Amino acid sequence: MNRKDFLQKTGATALLISMGVLLDGCSDDAEDLTPDDGKTVSFSLAGSPFDTLKTTDSWLLHPTENILLVNVNSIIRAFTSVCTHQGCVTDWTYNSPTFTCNCHGSKFNNKGEVTAGPAASNLKEYQVKVEGDDVTIAVG
Ligand code: FES
Repeated sequence: MNRKDFLQKTGATALLISMGVLLDGCSDDAEDLTPDDGKTVSFSLAGSPFDTLKTTDSWLLHPTENILLVNVNSIIRAFTSVCTHQGCVTDWTYNSPTFTCNCHGSKFNNKGEVTAGPAASNLKEYQVKVEGDDVTIAVG
């Protein structure tokens, strides 16, 4: 590569960076996926996939909302699935009593409390109301 080619190539890169083109792929859009304040989410335990939550130690990542659901001693608890480290939303596993965000390995207990970093803060817990098979979660 001669000097002219080098300057043309680095100049184009600098231009793209100044326009935010190259950095855009690194942005974190997790905030856009967080449920709106004041919103409630409802579902029935009578049908799939939520019926799995009838069993103690079962868990579920809500299929359309950013909510982690877990049955802890027959009580359904709900947390945001937006990891407090860098905002990963869907890459979770649960091995009672520990949620793991597989993006970077942060661990949270079934109260949403951080038990291992790099995350430094707990998952927000949502209020859950259960009436028969009907579940309502206040995600605000
Ligand atoms: Fe969850 Fe990094 S985003 S551990």
